[in-house]
Amino acid sequence: MAALPPQAAELFSKQKPFFLATASKDGIPNVVPVGMFFVGEDGKLWLVDNYLCKTLKNIKENPWVAFDIWNPESPESYQVKGKAEIVSSGPDYEKAVAFAHSKKETFPAKNLIKVDPTCVYYTTPGDHAGKKLL
Ligand SMILES: Cc1cc2nc3c(=O)[nH]c(=O)nc-3n(C[C@H](O)[C@H](O)[C@H](O)COP(=O)(O)O)c2cc1C
Repeated sequence: MAALPPQAAELFSKQKPFFLATASKDGIPNVVPVGMFFVGEDGKLWLVDNYLCKTLKNIKENPWVAFDIWNPESPESYQVKGKAEIVSSGPDYEKAVAFAHSKKETFPAKNLIKVDPTCVYYTTPGDHAGKKLL
């Protein structure tokens, strides 16, 4: 299991939403805005599924996802790839429900999606662009 590097994790407090890319088993890409998320104690990215459709279907077929996180105050940016896990019961799921309901009681919070950040690359323009960080 990997964890987001601290400098990338910190950017999640600065960027909302970010865009999550998935692909079907046939390789058809899909990208959606996601605004309800936090970095869990396990270092994974935890997303709340309120209204996801194709994204959820894709993750069931192909768990690999990708996203980019960047600092709107500077060009600092990281590309993350990892496997997503759908959690729909248990204590971690209940934490995600509580998080969603702290924003608005009527959010459906159908699932918690945990992304294990397997690979992280610099996307900041310059010498490190495209280089692997994790
Ligand atoms: C700014 C913004 C933030 C959003 N955040 C979330 C979110 O955190 N969770 C969620 O389930 N849907 C969120 N949505 C809605 C999904 O992006 C939307 O339901 C989308 O159609 C899902 O597409 P899909 O069918 O390709 O999965 C957000 C939409 C916008 C515009």
